[in-house]
Amino acid sequence: QKIVLAYSGGLDTSVILKWLKETYDAEIIAFTADIGQKEELDGLEEKALATGASKVYIDDLRDEFANDFIFPMFQAGAMYEGQYLLGTSIARPLIAKRMVDIARAEGATAIAHGATGKGNDQVRFELGAAALAPEIDVIAPWRLEEFRNQFPGRAEMIAYAEAHGIPVTASAAKPYSMDRNLLHISYESGVLEDPWFDASAEENKDMYLLSVSPEDAPNEPEYVELEFKQGNVVAINGESLTPLQVMEKLNELGGKHGIGRVDMVENRFVGMKSRGVYETPGGTILFTAHRKMESITMDREVMNLRDSLITRYSTLVYNGFWFAPERLAIQALVTESQKNVSGTVRLKLYKGNIIGAGVKSPVSLYNPDIATMEADPTQAYDQGDATGFIRLNALRLKVAAGVDQNQ
Ligand code: ARG
Ligand code: SIN
Repeated sequence: QKIVLAYSGGLDTSVILKWLKETYDAEIIAFTADIGQKEELDGLEEKALATGASKVYIDDLRDEFANDFIFPMFQAGAMYEGQYLLGTSIARPLIAKRMVDIARAEGATAIAHGATGKGNDQVRFELGAAALAPEIDVIAPWRLEEFRNQFPGRAEMIAYAEAHGIPVTASAAKPYSMDRNLLHISYESGVLEDPWFDASAEENKDMYLLSVSPEDAPNEPEYVELEFKQGNVVAINGESLTPLQVMEKLNELGGKHGIGRVDMVENRFVGMKSRGVYETPGGTILFTAHRKMESITMDREVMNLRDSLITRYSTLVYNGFWFAPERLAIQALVTESQKNVSGTVRLKLYKGNIIGAGVKSPVSLYNPDIATMEADPTQAYDQGDATGFIRLNALRLKVAAGVDQNQ
């Protein structure tokens, strides 16, 4: 039997690798998606082999992540519960996709992951896999009683790792858990479980890896120009870039200016509330710039329709339904809505703030001649027409006002 394990090199998936191998007497193929987690990838292959993997895949999926996942999601204007830009949520379906591809290529019958039984990630991995490869089994050790009994706490995992020659890294000692990729870093659990714990306090600033705190950001603002084509950024400050390069550039700029930190309590799909701290420097700039680009290029009713679907779409991404037909249907509408979203947005980055500093487009729908309070040279709008417009809209309000509402 062969099992493909989503492996990060951390304590949990290292222990799981060894445990699966012993428990199922199986060949374990370790798979790590490079989706921009940087240093966390160093020495991973040697570590997986040393831990007992028969084969290791470390696949650079950064371009696919940016092109086919991050960019389409930002076209949709997705944001969960008013704050979360879905950095972890959007990565899981890509990992699931590549994992089942490898399983098929290797003739593996199962995939395994280290997500707990209490979180969202298990749902995202498994709904993704179900949609793409229903014949493949899933093993989630954290949901197995025997596994939980063997590892009631971190001490037992560290002891097991040491007994099996698995090197325990410093990150195992951090008092919270992290998930890093091209779009964000999330921090959860441990000391963060107390929502009164102030993650922004000076003494906790070592936690953040992608951004400085706004109070430490430069005292001089920095301008940046983003050029959009059909809802996607194609150039920054005049330089053409791929989606991956756009994300890298915006992360650097946002990080430098303390942009994109969020501290929230969110609703997990499985029912509980959970506290999360996020750093999404580039994504936050992209989100703001995209909305500004739409402001002059998108039709009012198209915007209204697309906006009415944002909550729905964001919940689908959060809950792991990326490959579900309803997400694809909304995405088709989003793609159509972006056809005219082209032009340039200028922003000023300053101490955690993104300040609008200009927007222009060759296909702008904004017409100052029509909007002006001065004489309208186009004659497109007759102020007298507004009298009838208001009278008809007022009709039902007047009728209602004439009826005794307390009867
Ligand atoms: N709460 C966020 C989400 O559900 C982040 C999850 C982080 N996952 C992790 N394995 N550390 O998308
Ligand atoms: C986990 O439980 O594995 C991480 C948190 C989450 O998935 O929501």
